[in-house]
Amino acid sequence: MADTILRTDRLSKSFGGLIATDNVSLDFERGRVHAIIGPNGAGKTTLINLLSGDLLPNNGRILFNGQEITRLPPNRISQLGIGRSYQKTNIFAEFSCYENCWVAAQSRLNSSMRFFRPASSLKAIRQRTERALELCGLSRRHNCRAAAMSYGEQRQLEIGMMLATEPELLLLDEPLAGMGSEESIQVIELLKRLAEEHTLILIEHDMDAVFSIAEQLTVMVNGRVLATGTVEQIRNNQAVQEVYLGEDEETV
Ligand SMILES: Nc1ncnc2c1ncn2[C@@H]1O[C@H](COP(=O)(O)OP(=O)(O)O)[C@@H](O)[C@H]1O
Ligand SMILES: [Mg+2]
Repeated sequence: MADTILRTDRLSKSFGGLIATDNVSLDFERGRVHAIIGPNGAGKTTLINLLSGDLLPNNGRILFNGQEITRLPPNRISQLGIGRSYQKTNIFAEFSCYENCWVAAQSRLNSSMRFFRPASSLKAIRQRTERALELCGLSRRHNCRAAAMSYGEQRQLEIGMMLATEPELLLLDEPLAGMGSEESIQVIELLKRLAEEHTLILIEHDMDAVFSIAEQLTVMVNGRVLATGTVEQIRNNQAVQEVYLGEDEETV
């Protein structure tokens, strides 16, 4: 039986009369890369916002490692081990790379380390910060002001900030958005490295990237799950070919 790290059970979210997330029940397997695709407005970002606690659902439940997290605030969800990146960059422009990651690292330690002496928590924060910078590939840029970095590096830093919270599950909302092909290749390599030790839920438009990284795939349309399964199952799914992949089917 599959080892489920995250489960949504009939999760729904409306904005006024618009149902952005419509009865979404999904299982995410531990250690896998699970991509979510679908046209603009399909409800992908809303789903991520529900999982991270940035939005509250109208109905349904979210279970992380078997524990209900449905109404927990974002900082609690982060401390439990779910990290997220935002579709729009979320860094402090005037802070250095190191400082940005440091802020993220200490946010995770707030409650879990409160019984330790301040000196040892500071050491732990420093270690997390350095590990995150190393992992995201920005160690050599640690003193660089975020505002002075390229767009691609800023997105990399955002992933570093997420890693500084030492998450088990990463929620990534279009990490390649707005990048040139060189930058995309670097971030795809980074995601592949992260996938070796984390579970990833990845929203991505770039189908080449999706097919090169993802093992599981969910297609959303109008807030609903159209299909979910292995990449192979989704490629061969008739409804998906008709509604979403269309004539691109031959090229993906
Ligand atoms: N905060 C909000 N208030 C009102 N409507 C929203 C809000 N966030 C998203 N929506 C609407 O919900 C639908 C799904 O949006 P979103 O989750 O951003 O889709 P996707 O990420 O798949 O492009 C869209 O119709 C969008 O306009
Ligand atoms: Mg979106």
